[in-house]
Amino acid sequence: MGVLRYFTVSLFLLCNYNFVTADNKVVCYYDSSASYRTGQGKFELSFLDNALQFCSHLIYGYAGIDEKTNKLKALDEVLDLNQHNYQKVTDLKRRFPGLKIFLSVGGGKDGTYDDDRKVAKYLELLESADKRTTFINSADSFLRTYGFDGLDLSWEFPETKPKKKRGKISGWFNSLKKKIVGEDEVDEKAGEHKEEFTALVRDLKNKFKHEGLSVSLSVLPNVNSTVYYDPTIAQYLDLIIVKAFDFHTPKRNPKEADYPTPLFSVFDRRFDENADYQVRYWSEHGTPRNKIILAIPSFARTWKMTEDSGLTGVPPLTVEGEGLEGPYTKTPGLLSHPEVCNKLTNIDIKHKLVKTGDPTGRHGVFAYRTVDNNNPEGIWIAYEDVDSAGSKASYARERGLGGIAIDDLTLDDFRGLCSGNKYPVLRAARLKL
Ligand SMILES: *[C@@H]1O[C@H](CO)[C@@H](O)[C@H](O)[C@H]1NC(C)=O
Repeated sequence: MGVLRYFTVSLFLLCNYNFVTADNKVVCYYDSSASYRTGQGKFELSFLDNALQFCSHLIYGYAGIDEKTNKLKALDEVLDLNQHNYQKVTDLKRRFPGLKIFLSVGGGKDGTYDDDRKVAKYLELLESADKRTTFINSADSFLRTYGFDGLDLSWEFPETKPKKKRGKISGWFNSLKKKIVGEDEVDEKAGEHKEEFTALVRDLKNKFKHEGLSVSLSVLPNVNSTVYYDPTIAQYLDLIIVKAFDFHTPKRNPKEADYPTPLFSVFDRRFDENADYQVRYWSEHGTPRNKIILAIPSFARTWKMTEDSGLTGVPPLTVEGEGLEGPYTKTPGLLSHPEVCNKLTNIDIKHKLVKTGDPTGRHGVFAYRTVDNNNPEGIWIAYEDVDSAGSKASYARERGLGGIAIDDLTLDDFRGLCSGNKYPVLRAARLKL
């Protein structure tokens, strides 16, 4: 009897313990455009199955805004609607009953990188109460038509100006120029946009709560939170997903490679270019920690090393633009997790990379190949390995955050090409939560 009771009690404790950890959220982004990659990079919907056992939320990327009507719209009508991808994804809830599936609007995907109108339409929608109402009503019926559980606002705001690489003289000149022309002021109506965005989120919440729909915010990289997000919006949001990465990218910083995704501040860098600062912006302004989700990238940023880059690989480094594209993602400056992994395990001396870990867990890991007579192609790769992803998840757990996000599933090793282990980044992070 006593033994039975002992077992019952410990079983209870065990279940209770699991229940507590299961409360930590794992938000998984899914970028549907990955279905257009070819060969081993192509992401079929069926690959989601191996990930979803670890995910509490799936965020379908991306929807857009119709510039003429201000309504929420599918960005890829053929895939999303004609081929019923929206429906197929939301149907997954039958097999994964606890899963919440949100549709994300924006995300830097609604328009091309160089398009001036890309951000403008997001700001103009904010500026009119009528347009905001139109958008909210359209989102409401859109989500219900396709069976989504909520809307994720990956709202597109103007990005901060990238730091220029500067020597002493030009540094002095630039600070003078900044004082004269106000170079850093990218949006004169930023204060109004901040208030209007708060109104949009508040009204969305009021509309959605009657329908049982959720609202989340994805804080996009290089959007200045102080400028655009009034921390009081947290009360209207179910989740605030902080995309604390891409502080340096080969597009923004083509001449100088640096840690894109540090967890803590790095010596001699801007105080706000790290995940810890971005998370604390919200928590120190009163956001309940259990609403804050720390996003971890599954991809790498790469730069091309030259003769001027030196031999140690330690950033900041003089570089020359984007690193060569990989075989699956075919995008200069970007590599997926399996593409990095394949390079690291390549035994051919010509392709040999030097790998540098990060025992401090502060700045992230990198790998590189210098330029010499044998290797005309130098590359510097900053990425997330299973240890650094684990460090970020541990940080989220220790700080009592709501959980972590993986951005995104299609750039993790979804086929298990590298070690046979499917979704190594997602798994490593989940394990430490
Ligand atoms: C963000 O905005 C604040 C307030 O205007 C400013 O002090 C800070 O330097 C800005 N950060 C960046 C990265 O531009």
